[in-house]
Amino acid sequence: MKASDYMVLFYASMVAVPLLFVLETILIAFGYLKFTGIIEILTALGLLVYCMIGFKEVYSQKKRSINSLSREVTVSSKETRIKHGRGEKVLDVTVKRFNLGGKRLEAHTYKVKGNRFTTVLDALLSIKSEQDSSLAVRYSCRMGICGSCGMVVNGKPSLACETPLLDTAKEDRIEVEPMRAHPLLKDLVTDFDYFFSSHKKIHPGLFRENKKEQMNATSIYNQSREERDAYLPFSYCIMCGLCQDACPVANSNKDFIGPQALSQVYRYAMDSRDQKGPKRLNLANSLEGAWGCEFAGACSEVCPKGVDPAAAIQSLKFKMFAGEDKISD
Ligand code: SF4
Ligand code: FES
Repeated sequence: MKASDYMVLFYASMVAVPLLFVLETILIAFGYLKFTGIIEILTALGLLVYCMIGFKEVYSQKKRSINSLSREVTVSSKETRIKHGRGEKVLDVTVKRFNLGGKRLEAHTYKVKGNRFTTVLDALLSIKSEQDSSLAVRYSCRMGICGSCGMVVNGKPSLACETPLLDTAKEDRIEVEPMRAHPLLKDLVTDFDYFFSSHKKIHPGLFRENKKEQMNATSIYNQSREERDAYLPFSYCIMCGLCQDACPVANSNKDFIGPQALSQVYRYAMDSRDQKGPKRLNLANSLEGAWGCEFAGACSEVCPKGVDPAAAIQSLKFKMFAGEDKISD
C-alpha cells in the first residue's frame, strides 16, 4: 500500500469510529443491544495497532522519497553542469576498431562529453569505463613521455594523451583509428616488435674503443656545449612510432628501417662520446636505410618531441657523401 492509501484509511476511520459509537449508543438506548464493552475495547485496540503500522509506513515512505529526491537533484545538477558548463560539449567520437576476427576496421561512434582540458585519451578511457569496456587502448604515462598512446586522430598520427579533444574536433566530430605502419593487434593497439627491432639494429648506445675503460670509467666524459647541442635535439625521441606511421616510404616498403631508427643513427654518430665511427654510419648506408628516404618530411611534422628525423636523415646522406662511413683497413 502507498502512504496516501494509509492516510485515506486513517482519516476515514477517524470519521467511522465516532459514528459507530453513536450508532451503538442509540441501539443500546432503544434496547436492541446490550452494553458489554468488549466491542469498544477490541475496536480501540485494533485502531491503535492499525494507526501505529500506518504511521510507520507513512514515515518510512516519506524518508525514501526524500532520499530519492536528493539523489535526483544531485544527478540532474551534475548533468546540467556538464551540458551547460563553460566551454563543455558533447562530441561524436568515431573509433575505427580493428576486429581481429574479421581482420578489418569497424567504425563505432560514441557520444562523449568534453571540456577544454579533455584529451582524446581521456575521451577513449571514458568510453571504455562508461560505454564499452571491450575497447582496447594502450597508454601508460598520460603525459607525453612513454610514447605508448600513438594513434591516428582526424587523419594525423598523434599522441592521444597530448591531443585536445575540442580543439581537434571538426564540426563536433572526431575520428580515431590505429596507426597503419605497424601491424594491427586489437582495436587501437598496434604491434611494435618490428619497430623496436629496427631500433635495435642501429646499436643504440655509446660505444668506446676501450671496453674495459667504458665498464670501469675513471673519469667523466667531458663535452662542450657545442658537442652536446649537436645531438641533444635528437635524443628527445620517445619511440612513439608516429614518424614511422606518417612516413610514406615506411608505409609502402616494410624493409625500410624508418625515420626513428635513422634519426638515432645520427644522434649517436654526433655524440662526441661515441667511438663507433664509420661503422655507425654504415648501419644506415643502404636502400633500406638513409638512401630509402624520399625526403617527404612528414616524419618531422608529426613528431611530438620536436625531433627532426627528416633533417637527421639528410645529414646522414651528407656524411656518407663526404666518405665518413668508409672503414679504413
Ligand atoms: S622521432 Fe619523434 S615521432 Fe619518431 S618515434 Fe621519436 S618521438 Fe616519436
Ligand atoms: S600515454 Fe604516454 S605518451 Fe601518451
